Amino acid sequence: MKENKYEFSYEVFNDISELNEKDAWLLSEARSVTKDAYAPYSNFQVGAVAILANGEVVAGTNQENASYPVGICAERVLLGSVATLHPNVPVETIAISYTSDGMKSDHPISPCGMCRQSLLEYETRLHKPIRLILSGQEGKVFVIKSAGLLLPFAFTNKELG
Ligand code: THU
Repeated sequence: MKENKYEFSYEVFNDISELNEKDAWLLSEARSVTKDAYAPYSNFQVGAVAILANGEVVAGTNQENASYPVGICAERVLLGSVATLHPNVPVETIAISYTSDGMKSDHPISPCGMCRQSLLEYETRLHKPIRLILSGQEGKVFVIKSAGLLLPFAFTNKELG
């Protein structure tokens, strides 16, 4: 028997002022686009903004539904728009932020499991890691080099031959 270890490192910044200008701008866009979320059921508004390899910027927000499972996360709304508006252009970085009617938005959140699977598919499809910038409306910022790092032992298209 041998024991394997999975680990990855990520950057932690105390707040947005420690980011470079481009990352700080992208995060501020993600923070402000939360206003376009439609989240009357969870009262949790998520904003995700991508900058693409060609410099284009695309945003997504969570869109809920009275039939709860129909709702879709900000990250997958975003990826669908990117793929449709700018086909075959890799995503460089996605900034993700949120607001909540019941809680302070003062710490980073990270994508749900389904979104991790979708982000990984996009990385694989365009052969480029997607950097993530995660933060609330204030406070610490996490920067992760590749979204795929968040999904160890992922099921990918390799298994399908
Ligand atoms: N949500 C996102 O949009 N992205 C995430 O990464 C986590 C959760 C949304 C789904 C739902 O509309 C609300 O946040 C509460 O779960």
